[in-house]
Amino acid sequence: MPDIRPLASTEIDVVGAVLGLARLHQGDGVYLVAWQGSEPLGHAHLALTDPPELQDVEIRLEYRRHGVASSLTAYAEDEARRRGFHRLRLDVSVDNAPAQALYRRCGYASAGEAPRRVTGTIQLRTGPIEVDETLLVWEKRLSGGPHTTVSSRPDAG
Ligand SMILES: CC(C)(COP(=O)(O)OP(=O)(O)OC[C@H]1O[C@@H](n2cnc3c(N)ncnc32)[C@H](O)[C@@H]1OP(=O)(O)O)[C@@H](O)C(=O)NCCC(=O)NCCS
Repeated sequence: MPDIRPLASTEIDVVGAVLGLARLHQGDGVYLVAWQGSEPLGHAHLALTDPPELQDVEIRLEYRRHGVASSLTAYAEDEARRRGFHRLRLDVSVDNAPAQALYRRCGYASAGEAPRRVTGTIQLRTGPIEVDETLLVWEKRLSGGPHTTVSSRPDAG
């Protein structure tokens, strides 16, 4: 199991050297980073909008298919729950079969909204990129307390 924690400002250089951190300057959320010792394995951005959104899930090629994205997703869900949210959303490209398989397995399904075509230039930390893709909006209802809860509190909402 990787160690997951919010990105600290002192870790930006070491994480940014091997992962995109594309939404670093978006300013509406927190990057969650999975580590193995001093090695960053992958990250996810949790935008603290209402509802919150899981964005920029990226796992380094050599660490894929080891459950890292699943662990980051579960951590993001706990974080959203802890902040009082009852659902988590994400956009996934119609062409991204691996990501769809991941999110389906994590319990996400269509939010019932029409697919959205996105075209144009997007400014990322790493520079501008051209996009032309169709995004599906998926979401998951977050029930119960955080996975990390060790004791139940009857008054917890
Ligand atoms: C998609 C991505 C995040 C998955 O990360 P990961 O750490 O390899 O995912 P996990 O190991 O947690 O996978 C969990 C499950 O998702 C499904 N899955 C993940 N990658 C898959 C793939 N390439 N093909 C088919 N199913 C896949 C499988 O069911 C997998 O379980 P299994 O390995 O026991 O079969 C990773 O491939 C990646 O970084 N891709 C590039 C960036 C990207 O597309 N991000 C998503 C943006 S919405």
